[in-house]
Amino acid sequence: MRAPNPTVLVVGATGRFAGLVVPELVCRNASVRALVRDHPANVEKARKLGASEVATGDLRNRQSLESAVEGVDGVFHIGPAFAPDEAAMGIAMVEAASRAGVRKFVFSSVIQPTNTSLENHASKVPVEAALYSTNMEYTILHPVNFMQNIGAAWPSVVEHGIFSEPFPKTAKVARVDYRDVAELAAIALTEARLSYATLELCAGMHSREDIVSMMSEELGRPISAGEPTFGEWAANARLPYSDRQMHLLAKVHDHYAQFGLGGNSLTLHAALGREPRSLRSFIRELALQTAYVA
Ligand SMILES: NC(=O)c1ccc[n+]([C@@H]2O[C@H](COP(=O)([O-])OP(=O)(O)OC[C@H]3O[C@@H](n4cnc5c(N)ncnc54)[C@H](OP(=O)(O)O)[C@@H]3O)[C@@H](O)[C@H]2O)c1
Repeated sequence: MRAPNPTVLVVGATGRFAGLVVPELVCRNASVRALVRDHPANVEKARKLGASEVATGDLRNRQSLESAVEGVDGVFHIGPAFAPDEAAMGIAMVEAASRAGVRKFVFSSVIQPTNTSLENHASKVPVEAALYSTNMEYTILHPVNFMQNIGAAWPSVVEHGIFSEPFPKTAKVARVDYRDVAELAAIALTEARLSYATLELCAGMHSREDIVSMMSEELGRPISAGEPTFGEWAANARLPYSDRQMHLLAKVHDHYAQFGLGGNSLTLHAALGREPRSLRSFIRELALQTAYVA
């Protein structure tokens, strides 16, 4: 029988994305145990998000994972972006959960994990394969590019009137609001209806020309679409990535330049049972916040 108030271990609970899963779980009466690395600020942040317990651990330390999963009903896992050992870390989490008798496991993977020409996609495949060789009720999420990436660029859009990404402004890229992904993760961990599902999660496909047109309308002033080189873009984005991680990110953008990123909203719509959050509404929220602050 399903636990009425399951305890869920959330990997990356203080990060930009799993951090959105924590409140979704809490509002479904789950207790959250946050897995955090050993930074006092992370413990504080996890508690503020709603975690009732904090487990200090590291995906590279199997023993710490054994302790972290003790007594939990479910695990939410997301791998750190472009880590060279992302697959090994995911497998370690799956194995620790399976050994501990965890019932439910949600893996936030990526759209097209079998596009193995991109290392950040290929690294998800062994984690998915590991899940298929357990007796856990798994749900695998295949999200496209996160709208939250646009949120990160927003202050610069407002300041300079340009939205830049290092691929052609006509390339269509599929996007999803990670809040919808987080909602589905929480449903999967607290209900039965998404068990054993592998879900493509996309709200729609847009070019940067489409996006700046939405931005212009929502801000009431013209925003143009920049087409910087990867180097120019990276200098402004100031991501906390190593050279290797930046190289892998550049490959993702090269792929977008040649092929865009495909996605279909059918599964997201069906799984949510409502319209997905749209890119238009995401941009509207950003514009409203800007107007409120100004
Ligand atoms: N961005 C997109 O558009 C997009 C689209 C589809 C899929 N994805 C996938 O989504 C994931 C997002 O990753 P992100 O890194 O950008 O997310 P993030 O939300 O920035 O989170 C990374 C989290 O993982 C934690 N972490 C890192 N290394 C760890 C370790 N060794 N042990 C335990 N925790 C560790 C970090 O903790 P600390 O705070 O201690 O560093 C942080 O909380 C990637 O797998 C990416 O491929 C991204």
